[in-house]
Amino acid sequence: VDIDEKRQTVSATLPNGDTVEVLLYGATVTSWKNGGGKTENVWVSEKAIWDGSKPVRGGIPIVFPNFGPPIKDHATSALPQHGFARNVRWEFLGSEKSESGTSSVKLDFGLYSSALPAKFREAWPLDFGLVYSVTLSEEGLRTIMTVRNEGSSAFEFQFLLHTYLRVNDISQTTINGLGSETYIDKVLNATKHEQTTPSLSITGEVDRAYIGVKQDTTSVLEGGSPRFDVIRDNLSDTVVWNPWIEKAKGMGDFAPQDGYKNMLCVEVGAIDGWQKLEGGDAWEGGQLIKSLL
Ligand code: BG6
Repeated sequence: VDIDEKRQTVSATLPNGDTVEVLLYGATVTSWKNGGGKTENVWVSEKAIWDGSKPVRGGIPIVFPNFGPPIKDHATSALPQHGFARNVRWEFLGSEKSESGTSSVKLDFGLYSSALPAKFREAWPLDFGLVYSVTLSEEGLRTIMTVRNEGSSAFEFQFLLHTYLRVNDISQTTINGLGSETYIDKVLNATKHEQTTPSLSITGEVDRAYIGVKQDTTSVLEGGSPRFDVIRDNLSDTVVWNPWIEKAKGMGDFAPQDGYKNMLCVEVGAIDGWQKLEGGDAWEGGQLIKSLL
């Protein structure tokens, strides 16, 4: 495990050469390589902002406590799009190695309400503690969030892991595991649809929130061969997003401009309505991503 004070990152390497890197801002996974460190699995924009002044465009930003633009008449209504977790510096809590069986290393990051910048603390004045565990193993990358309500009354939240998977060629990429599922299509005025085909190809802008997905595994294939399995853990929703040409051009921190060809967001989450957490209670959810190259 290596802490780079200058870059504000924590990284870990397995004996087989696989690596993971996490930026303290947002506890954002900014690199995950398998194949002995040869295969990069997450896409990060060349113009991503690393200094915490803006969420990182790429990797695995954390969405909490609200997904999407803030909605009126809710406790989160004064927060930015996708909440504050991706906008603030997290604390590195430590690491744990396992040498028995397959080797793995777990990195823990914490964010507490008491350490929130005043503007967010004022906008969401609730007492909470978040612990985010990033575990690199030969099996893949596991990212799990624990949300604890440190107050005495209940609060509501949404949570999502906004993973930017790196692909070689979006035109060769297909997604399985979402067939017959219901989704809200943000490209079509947030209307509800049902996916009629077992497999989804990306041929233009896609922004779909699949709600209450039955199958835990969403598979990404390239040229028909398995590339990633994204496995939900105690989460029932999955967003599929690719900005395509025009939207990519419209994002100042998205580079290169044709980078949309090399990324696909498969975002696991709890975003349908709200998770209600009673005072003193804890909730846990996350994902395991397997790189199949
Ligand atoms: C996705 C949303 O999860 O995130 C999209 O469904 C949104 O609507 C995208 O455009 C990126 O959001 P942001 O805030 O990182 O630009």
